[in-house]
Amino acid sequence: MKSEKPRWHKTFLGAKQQHTYWLYKIIDDVLMDNPQICRFVEIGTGQGALSVILGLHALQRNGHLITFDTNSRHRKVETIFNRLEVIYYKIDCFSSEAKDIMEGHIKGQPTLFFCDGDHKPEEFNTFVPMLPPGSIIAAHDYSVEIQDSDLEKAIREYSLEPLCPKEWKGGVDDIQTCFFLKP
Ligand SMILES: C[S@@+](CC[C@H](N)C(=O)[O-])C[C@H]1O[C@@H](n2cnc3c(N)ncnc32)[C@H](O)[C@@H]1O
Repeated sequence: MKSEKPRWHKTFLGAKQQHTYWLYKIIDDVLMDNPQICRFVEIGTGQGALSVILGLHALQRNGHLITFDTNSRHRKVETIFNRLEVIYYKIDCFSSEAKDIMEGHIKGQPTLFFCDGDHKPEEFNTFVPMLPPGSIIAAHDYSVEIQDSDLEKAIREYSLEPLCPKEWKGGVDDIQTCFFLKP
């Protein structure tokens, strides 16, 4: 059957993308508008294509990405991870060990926190409270695996502000990724 998303599921550096290239452009826009971001955390490394992009942004800001997955599938970009000093943790993101690692990495600094594991609503709602002011939380598969109703409470409680919403509410390339600033 022909894909309904012809610009999805391509490859980047040989790693299968579980997203679309246009997502990289929106991440760029969001980050250029938010120079305060200096920490980077990703849940769901997968094959690591998006981790490389986040790792590059982290490097540009003199930092490094930490990324969590319960499976190791990023072999194709492993040498790049090493050069970018991306740190991959093969642990459950909901474990207390993962939480300690995240807190030790974030250290009260504005963070881009990217939820792309298999439980986006839980990831979003579990980790938004620990993010310092000025942080951005993003969740992939918006409108597919995470809905507005999953976000409502956190938006209200933390006064989250949507970033580039036109891109994830019917945008040309349908990035299916919501972004919110935690003021
Ligand atoms: C959609 S894929 C990630 C795609 C990747 N970010 C990309 O864009 O190429 C989801 C990943 O989350 C991982 N995952 C699922 N549950 C997890 C958990 N509790 N902690 C960490 N990773 C988890 C899965 O093993 C899977 O590789």
